[in-house]
This record gives sequence, C-alpha cells and structure tokens, in this order.
Amino acid sequence: MSDTILVFALCLYLAATLIHGSNESNQRKPHIVYMGDVPDPEVSVTNVHLNLLSKAIGDEQIARESKIHSYGKSFNGFVANLLPHEAKKLSEEDGVVSVFENTRRKLHTTRSWDFLRMPTSWKLRNPKVESNIIVALMDTGIWVDSPSFSDKGFGPPPPKWKGKCDKGSNFTGCNKKVIGARYYNLDKSFPIEEDPTPADYMGHGTHTSSTAAGVSIHDASLYGIAKGTARGGVPSARIAMYKVCWSGGCTDMDILAGFDDAIHDGVDLISVSIGGPSRDFFEDPIAIGAFHAMKKRILTSCSAGNGGPDLFSVENVAPWVLTVGASSMDRDFRVDIQLGNGIKIAGNGINTYSTKKKMYPITSGTLAGNLTGNSTYYTGNTSACDHGTLSQDKVKGRIMYCLGNSGQDSTIKQLDGVGAIMSVTELLDVYYITLLPGSLVVVNDGNKIDRYINSTKNPKAMIDRSRSVNMTAPFVASFSARGPQMINHNILKPDVVAPGLNILAAYTTLTSLTGDPSDNRRPGYNIISGTSMSNPHAIAAAAYVKSFHPDWSPAAIKSALMTTATPMKTKDKTGKLGSGAGQINPVRAVHPGLIYDISFSSYIRFLCKEGYNSTALNKLIGDKGHSCSSFKPVHGTDGLNYPSMHTRINSTQTRFSAIFYRTVTEVGTGSSSYKAIVRASKGLSIEVVPRTLNFSRLHEKKSFKVIVKGNSAEAGPWSRSGALVWSDGKHSVKSSILIYKFSELI
Ligand SMILES: *[C@@H]1O[C@H](CO)[C@@H](O)[C@H](O)[C@H]1NC(C)=O
Ligand SMILES: *[C@@H]1O[C@H](CO)[C@@H](O)[C@H](O)[C@H]1NC(C)=O
Ligand SMILES: *[C@@H]1O[C@H](CO)[C@@H](O)[C@H](O)[C@H]1NC(C)=O
Ligand SMILES: *[C@@H]1O[C@H](CO)[C@@H](O)[C@H](O)[C@H]1NC(C)=O
Ligand SMILES: *[C@@H]1O[C@H](CO)[C@@H](O)[C@H](O)[C@H]1NC(C)=O
Ligand SMILES: *[C@@H]1O[C@H](CO)[C@@H](O)[C@H](O)[C@H]1NC(C)=O
Ligand SMILES: *[C@@H]1O[C@H](CO)[C@@H](O)[C@H](O)[C@H]1NC(C)=O
Ligand SMILES: *[C@@H]1O[C@H](CO)[C@@H](O)[C@H](O)[C@H]1NC(C)=O
Ligand SMILES: *[C@@H]1O[C@H](CO)[C@@H](O)[C@H](O)[C@H]1NC(C)=O
Ligand SMILES: *[C@@H]1O[C@H](CO)[C@@H](O)[C@H](O)[C@H]1NC(C)=O
Repeated sequence: MSDTILVFALCLYLAATLIHGSNESNQRKPHIVYMGDVPDPEVSVTNVHLNLLSKAIGDEQIARESKIHSYGKSFNGFVANLLPHEAKKLSEEDGVVSVFENTRRKLHTTRSWDFLRMPTSWKLRNPKVESNIIVALMDTGIWVDSPSFSDKGFGPPPPKWKGKCDKGSNFTGCNKKVIGARYYNLDKSFPIEEDPTPADYMGHGTHTSSTAAGVSIHDASLYGIAKGTARGGVPSARIAMYKVCWSGGCTDMDILAGFDDAIHDGVDLISVSIGGPSRDFFEDPIAIGAFHAMKKRILTSCSAGNGGPDLFSVENVAPWVLTVGASSMDRDFRVDIQLGNGIKIAGNGINTYSTKKKMYPITSGTLAGNLTGNSTYYTGNTSACDHGTLSQDKVKGRIMYCLGNSGQDSTIKQLDGVGAIMSVTELLDVYYITLLPGSLVVVNDGNKIDRYINSTKNPKAMIDRSRSVNMTAPFVASFSARGPQMINHNILKPDVVAPGLNILAAYTTLTSLTGDPSDNRRPGYNIISGTSMSNPHAIAAAAYVKSFHPDWSPAAIKSALMTTATPMKTKDKTGKLGSGAGQINPVRAVHPGLIYDISFSSYIRFLCKEGYNSTALNKLIGDKGHSCSSFKPVHGTDGLNYPSMHTRINSTQTRFSAIFYRTVTEVGTGSSSYKAIVRASKGLSIEVVPRTLNFSRLHEKKSFKVIVKGNSAEAGPWSRSGALVWSDGKHSVKSSILIYKFSELI
C-alpha cells in the first residue's frame, strides 16, 4: 500500500528473516508462555516462572539462560527460548493457558476532525475531564519536539499516572503532554538498528499520536498542501507512548510487555495500529493484552489491516477490541498538468514541489530507452521506465511519461530527470509522495500526453503542486481490510471505519518524508494512509465519549460509537464487510440513547460457549473455583450482547434462521419509549420481539430478541444485510445485521 513505512518495515523484515531464517529443530526459539490473570502479589512470579521452566527443560542452569522476560503487572506469563518438546511440556502444565512462538507483526492522518464535525469550542467539550484522560499508543515511538506535543497550558499528569519516561540520546524526554514514553526490545536475537530510546525514527508513532491527541496547530500543511488546523481528536488528553515497533517489525513479546506496563500505569485507552495473521484469542498478543485491559475497563482499539479490498483480510478481531477500518474524507489531491500545446490534464497525487509554472522538456520511457544497455541483464520494460532501461542522456532535465505505477520516480530522480507522469489503468484512492514533481493520470489522459510527445519536436510540460479538491465521502478505502473474519463466525468485523486516507499529521524529523535516503524533506508533517491512521481517530472518538461518560465500560463506549455511525455514501460490493457499522460520528456518540453493554463475566460466558474449557477460563478470571458450569449459559446465535448482528451460514443449508438475544440500557433521558424499525434486503426476514421498549428510569435495562430468517438456495457467495434501529424520535440506535454464506468454504 502507500503506507511507505509499512513497506519499508516489511523489506527489512524479509531481509532479516533470510539471514536468521534457520529452522533447525535443535535450536531454541523464543516462546510466550501465557498464564492468565495477574498472580497473587505474595508470590514471586520470577521464581514461579523459573521453576516451571526448569521442570520443562530439566536443567536449572539452561532454564536461567533460556528465560528472557517475566510478565506479572497486569497478567501472568513469561518469555523463554524453548525447544518444541519443551514448549509442549509447558503447555500441559497446570497454570498455563497457552504457549506460542514469538512472531513479528507489522505496522498497518488536519482536516479529518473538521470532517467528522468534532467541536473545537470548549463549550462543546469537557477539557477538565479530557485532560485527565491518558491515551496509550503501542507504536514506533514519538518525536516529542513536534509542536503538536507542546505542553503549554497543561497541568501536572493526573494523580493516577504511574508510568515512566525512558530518556536517551535522541530522545529529549517527556513533558506534561507526553507524560510517558518507554521502549521494548526483549528479543536480543534480533538486533535493532536505531538507538534504544522511545524516539521515533520511522514517523508512524508521531503521526498516530498527534492524530489522536495532538494540540491544535494553526496553518499546518505539507508544503502548502492540505493546509488547515492540525489537531488531535482530544487535544487536552495526555499521551503515553509504548514503543514496541522498530524498523524490523513489532514482536509479540514486546507488544505484551507494552500492555503489561500500560494497564498497570493507569492509562484509559490503548491504541494499537499493528497487525498480523489472526490467531486463536489466547495465542494472540494483542487479543490477550486487550482482554486484560478490558478487565480493568480500558478500551483497546486496533487497526483492521491494509489487506483490502480482498475478503477475509480483517485482523485484530477479538470481540473486546474496537476494530477500525479506513474510510475516505471529502478531500482529494489534484495535480494540474499543462502541456506545451495548451492542453490541461487533471492528474492526482501528492506532489510537494512547485515548478513555479515553468515548462520542462518531456519525453516518454518508450523514447528514452538505453539501446546500448545490457538487455539480457536488464529485462525491464522501457515504456514503464523500469530501473536500468533508460538512457541517462535522454532523461536528464526532462519530465518522463511512463506506463504503470511502480515507483519509477526513484529511478527518474537517480537519472537527474525533473518529473514523472505515470499513466495507470485504474486510479486508486491512495497516493504516495513522489520524490520529484510527479502525478498519476488515467490511461485516456496518458494517451493524450503520449500523442503530444510524438507529435512535436520539442514537447514541453508543467506539473503543478498538489491542491485539495472536494469529493463525495465517506467510502471505504481500497486497502482497508474486509471481513468476514475467520476466528469467530458470529461477530462482524471491522466494527467501524474512520478516516485513514491521505491523512496529514505530525511526523518525525529523524527520517525524511519518504524514508528514501536521497530525500531530504523533513517538514515535521506528513500525509500518509492506512488503517494505522484511522485507528487513532477511533481511539480519540472513544476518549471524547469517555470525557462525557467517565464511568462507561469499554463495551458501552464501543456501542455508542457503533450505533451512531454514519453509513457510507459510496458503497462498494463488500458492503458491511468493509464498513462495519459505518464511519464514526463522535458528536452523536456522546448521546446514543441506548447502549449494548457487555460485562467481564458476559465475555467469560461467551468464551464458555465458544468451547474454551473451564481450566483455561479459571486462569483468565484469576478467581479459583469458577467454571463454565457455574455461569448461566448463554443462548442465541452469537452469545454476546454485541451492537451488530452477524452470522455465517452453513454452505449446505438452504433455509436458515438465526436468533440474537440482546439487552439495552437506557442512557438518554430516563423516561422513554423506543420503537423497533427494521430494514432488510430482499430474501431476509427480521422479526423483533417485543417491538416496543418502554423505560421509566435512567440505566434501566430491557431485553429483546431478533429472529432473522431466509432462504439461501442460490449457489456461490451469498450475503444479505439489514438493520435494526431503535427510535424514540430523538435517538436512532442502529445495529447492522449481516448474514453471509461462502459456498467455496469447507
Ligand atoms: C526447515 O523446515 C522445512 C520444513 O519443516 C525443511 O524442509 C527445511 O529443510 C528446513 N530448513 C533448514 C535450514 O533446516
Ligand atoms: C542520534 O544520536 C546519536 C548519538 O547522540 C547521533 O550520533 C545521531 O546522529 C542521532 N541520530 C539522529 C537521526 O539524529
Ligand atoms: C546504458 O546502460 C549501460 C549499462 O548497461 C551503462 O553502462 C550506460 O552508461 C548506459 N548509457 C546511458 C546513456 O545511460
Ligand atoms: C550482460 O550481463 C550479464 C549478467 O551480468 C553478463 O553475464 C554478460 O556478460 C553481460 N553482457 C554484456 C554484453 O555486457
Ligand atoms: C510495460 O508496462 C506497461 C505498464 O505496466 C504495460 O502496459 C506494457 O504492456 C508493458 N510492456 C511490455 C513490453 O511488457
Ligand atoms: C508514440 O511513439 C512511440 C514510439 O514510436 C510508440 O510506441 C507509441 O505507441 C506512440 N504513442 C501514441 C499514443 O501514438
Ligand atoms: C469544498 O467543500 C467546502 C466545504 O464543504 C466548500 O466550502 C468549498 O466551497 C468546496 N469547494 C469546491 C471547489 O467545491
Ligand atoms: C481443558 O483443555 C485441556 C487442554 O486441551 C485439557 O487437558 C483439559 O483436560 C481440559 N479441561 C476440561 C475441564 O475440560
Ligand atoms: C451443515 O449442514 C449439514 C446439513 O444440514 C449438516 O450435516 C452439517 O453438520 C452442518 N455443518 C455445520 C458446521 O453446522
Ligand atoms: C409504551 O409506551 C407507549 C407510549 O407511552 C404506550 O403507547 C405503550 O402501550 C407502552 N407499551 C408497553 C409495552 O408498555
């Protein structure tokens, strides 16, 4: 994707796996031994862990050498280098929930808040409460010197704060805005290239932090592009950075260490813009961390991943996580191109360079090939301006016209070209920043340029700096990961979408805009895309809701964001599998009317239904003597009071029915009467019992059931959607309903 950082990280990661990629079975590898809830404070966790390890390995000395780290502040567990049979032995031990190999995960932004109509006026905010809210981010560190993190006007950190600030050479330390910053690098087998400090060498963490909680900066822009006020969603909130990602990726053991500290440090919300293949909930470090956070009433929001528009690409799908896809804003970036014959062409892209309306000679890759080159060595495509196919003489001082979009700007810059116009068959919604004046054009316009070049002796052209234009929004970004998820077939993911396309926010100056060594632009802002960028919008919206309702549970906040979300303006064929409930609307979410709450024990009952057995659950609860049989069993298709309703039907079934049991809590006026309004696509019948819910007091709960029936006789992929809206005339509490069948699936 255009997320250059992601690509950069992946390249380093791949390079590293090639070097370290030996898989001999006699070599110990780091494993996480997860043991559930926090241990009894009386016992020394390190001793318990060492004893367990010695028993499994059979040698105390080797056990000591093998152990890497003990967790124990917010949950119980440790990391150790293990052989496969030692890992298996440990997984059978009493007290151990799961043992899994340490893997590497990857990283997945001024106007976006205006687009979401977030108020700037203090009257519409709760700055006192907001300044006691601490937003934690698991990311690449932070560049504290950015004006977005100025602590002017901030008081001391809230009294509940117990976190730390790791100082280091290029890290100047924390302030009253960025109150905590730590780094984690437990996996010594994978040396890091940067200084071991919380400083952000990659830009990603600075971008996400400032999107979530940066202070307002007037007249922020990227060289005049996307000019406006840059501000975080909750500018009064505090930031705590947990640096778990390095240029080589983010390891499971570091992510867990970040959660272990963050939960203990007293943060209110956790943002994780990191992902990897979905795994069973208790073998997935983000699901485990978020579970223990939820138990302490801390909401975790995660990016859904950038694997879209393919189906089945969504990541971070645990039901206690807010899973966030990426939507567009109403802004697009136009690059105006003018040819020597007067023809004007509207290109797209992010071009920070102004050509001061100067015309330069233009030629095409086809005409600039290096005919004396070693064509058996360079098998590239000259028309596409592939690396090694062009003659420097013919490129130097010229704008190049090339077919396709494969990062030719780098090649052209190396050959002293002055511009790059790339002709593409399909213009995607996401752009990357070119290393020299550049633009994407659609094929028809590209052919016009090519014909002009062929038609005259001295063709010339001009590429202007990008300018912002309006477009219809929101729609789901092409790269945003889509459902259905594969871990639980009854929970719709992503939950919501938030702006994640071409987002301007603060950026580190420890690297250039593009990360390319030849690039020396370090303006302190950058425009990047990804669900990494949408996720901090969602966590800030959650923090905003929390500033009005400090006592709400993570599930209540999530419900408020989901039931008030805005539907997509431009639909794509993946529908709700891409957008979930829709785009967050933080202002409406403050007054949702009703909420679908989920308590800790409801999640346990859900896990019992999912087949997690009592032994494992006992350790998660930390409360001995509980078992699934001591809880009231849950009924219905999903067994969870989720704000959306979803199931996958059996591919051999034709007629189907699903039943969803739900309970809503009145959080509006206290006395109200809600009526059910149902919308269903053809072939789906949705019945709600009862159809009216009358409340006489605040916090009163009412239960109802939703019966969804239909006929899926058609072969092939099949899905039907609908919605249930509870309306009292003032509030519309909307739940998305989606039933699907994929016949290709076993
Ligand atoms: C790694 O494992 C695979 C499959 O288990 C095996 O085919 C391969 O030879 C192994 N490579 C090394 C270097 O041990
Ligand atoms: C980081 O700090 C080291 C040592 O203080 C210094 O040599 C280096 O240039 C700094 N790196 C950057 C990118 O500023
Ligand atoms: C053409 O390519 C060869 C290498 O194959 C290179 O040595 C030569 O400098 C190139 N010529 C020009 C004009 O770029
Ligand atoms: C072309 O490149 C190949 C691979 O590097 C090399 O074996 C061959 O000798 C080169 N041919 C010429 C004419 O330079
Ligand atoms: C060169 O690349 C362009 C764009 O990808 C493609 O349309 C064209 O067919 C390619 N030409 C050759 C000779 O491969
Ligand atoms: C321009 O000329 C090149 C080289 O002769 C040719 O390959 C290309 O098709 C021409 N383009 C158009 C639009 O006619
Ligand atoms: C774009 O939208 C903004 C805000 O809705 C409006 O003020 C402006 O006039 C629009 N610009 C164009 C070119 O339509
Ligand atoms: C729980 O699962 C573990 C491992 O799968 C098994 O050893 C244990 O007997 C199970 N416990 C119960 C109560 O079913
Ligand atoms: C799917 O439906 C068939 C026929 O009704 C049944 O035999 C099968 O067990 C079902 N599979 C699942 C996973 O429910
Ligand atoms: C709920 O309240 C409405 C309006 O106040 C009333 O018409 C209706 O009968 C009540 N329904 C129930 C089930 O109490």
